[in-house]
Amino acid sequence: MKPAAASLVDTGTVCRHLAIIMDGNGRWAKARRLPRIAGHREGVEAVRRVVEAAPGLGLEVLTLYAFSSENWKRPPDEVTDLMGLLKHYVRSEIEALHRNDVCLDFIGDWRALKPDLVQLLEDARARTAGNRRLKLVMALNYGGQSELVRAAQRLATDVAAGQLDPDAIGLDALESRLDTAGMPPPDAVLRTSGELRLSNFLLWQSAYAEFLVTDTLWPDFDGPALARSLDEFARRERRFGGR
Ligand code: FPP
Repeated sequence: MKPAAASLVDTGTVCRHLAIIMDGNGRWAKARRLPRIAGHREGVEAVRRVVEAAPGLGLEVLTLYAFSSENWKRPPDEVTDLMGLLKHYVRSEIEALHRNDVCLDFIGDWRALKPDLVQLLEDARARTAGNRRLKLVMALNYGGQSELVRAAQRLATDVAAGQLDPDAIGLDALESRLDTAGMPPPDAVLRTSGELRLSNFLLWQSAYAEFLVTDTLWPDFDGPALARSLDEFARRERRFGGR
């Protein structure tokens, strides 16, 4: 795959890790007088397109907010539909992802999902663990605040076991106990459908991320739209708190 936007390469400001809040499936369906599931189904097609385009645009890690810990508040039928789509996506895409050297991983409390789904996700992780072209991270049953609570519990457990000195707890100690341990932080967080909220996504990790917003609804998102967002990122001046 060739880079779709030469300017990304020219400026040297490459986004290594992009995290996306995929929003607007419901509005896409409503505008067509279709049930919400139709919007989520088209959302899966957008996931396919974006995963295919990502490596050619310089991305090394792509994190997608697929199911938040707050999404359980949706009607039970919609939750069932979303879980079904996730299962179908992983089952039908895993071989293509593996062939394309994509490593699939998950963050969030995903091991609390139904046992058959957890097994499928474990198998997909194991099958693609050695792949290097792109790391595709799905945030499942994910909430940034709960992730921080779980990291704090791990710190407390290690202190109680005498394996960690409380005075030695710093940024690294906490970071290495987050679900994202070992991954670079996102350079940018992109939200589709024009909303301006972080929605409990990657609260710690996005401390210095550039925030990108597009009015495009997620089911309409594709490779060229991704290239435009990354072009916008490339024009930003990042200071990380300095001048
Ligand atoms: C937000 O749209 C999107 C979600 C709640 C979930 C995102 C899920 C997908 C893209 C499909 C699942 C795909 C995989 C591969 C797991 P919304 O329903 O909140 O839209 P609205 O704000 O317009 O109502």
